Amino acid sequence: MKRIAVLTSGGDAPGMNAAIRAVVRSAACQGIEVVGVRRGFTGTIEGDLRLLGPRDVANIIQRGGTILGTARSHRFRSPEGRAQAAENLRNFGVEGLVVIGGDGSFHGAHYLMEEQGIPVVGLPGTIDNDLYGTDYTIGYDTAVETALGAIDKLRDTAASHDRIFVVEVMGRKAGHIALDVAIAGGAEEVLIPEDNLPIERVIESIRQSIERGKTSSIVIVAEGVDGGAMRVRDLIEQGTGLEARATILGHIQRGGTPTSADRILASRLGDAAVSALASGTRGVMLGIVNNRIVETPLPETWERHKDVNRELYRCAKILAI
Ligand code: F6P
Repeated sequence: MKRIAVLTSGGDAPGMNAAIRAVVRSAACQGIEVVGVRRGFTGTIEGDLRLLGPRDVANIIQRGGTILGTARSHRFRSPEGRAQAAENLRNFGVEGLVVIGGDGSFHGAHYLMEEQGIPVVGLPGTIDNDLYGTDYTIGYDTAVETALGAIDKLRDTAASHDRIFVVEVMGRKAGHIALDVAIAGGAEEVLIPEDNLPIERVIESIRQSIERGKTSSIVIVAEGVDGGAMRVRDLIEQGTGLEARATILGHIQRGGTPTSADRILASRLGDAAVSALASGTRGVMLGIVNNRIVETPLPETWERHKDVNRELYRCAKILAI
């Protein structure tokens, strides 16, 4: 294998740059050239490709976002779009592709390989941590830290004003971020899509916590919960008669300097992706399970469900007393 390409696709995630850097440098060590694709699959369709050498990825390991840019490409969803992409990649001498993204990106990568025979390896790059086949995704640890920092600040105001704060965190349909920040931020309640906790239970638990002497509460709501933080805030106000505030943390959770855990994860996986492609592995996502790099066929990453850590969920409830 003489030349491979790398792209980032879907939502940006802190650590994607560290993964790009690892792919470029690991490939250079193995005598393989790397082509960077701009704006995800859009760049494959438009032929927006350029060679990247080890110096092109200097000083990016600490940067959030992705130097390659990213996009959610509609044209790539059609066989015609994928055929165009494959033609451009072949014309550029690309013999394999590393796709850094989430499940939507892996769908595209899978069809590109099935229809056009382009060897692909996926790396889990999303703050949501919702991919089967890896304990952690690139960007998740940083997103949790960012959300936690915001929640710590909100707690200052909640405590000063004796208020209830309802805080919405990202995660698409998954509650991983919500659960981690609930534990780490000492939240009084957490609502995640994986467990349809009736709002009456939340209201009752806030009432009980007031009886136990608590004067303020932090309620974490995953964005995948019906109606999000706004609806939960309204129902809590109606149910308790107390004033509550809702805060949606939003896209600040996607940016910022990646944590060491994300940089290390991205570096290990980027290096492993090059070796995998060079040794003939294709059609898999590389992930970390119990600190070991494992391969999972791409379709399994979206067909199989990665549950939240139920032990953490139980722990969050108990410690909120
Ligand atoms: O998948 C990452 C993510 O940030 C989700 O948590 C969120 O639901 C979604 O992307 C937001 O997407 P967009 O940036 O397109 O609004």
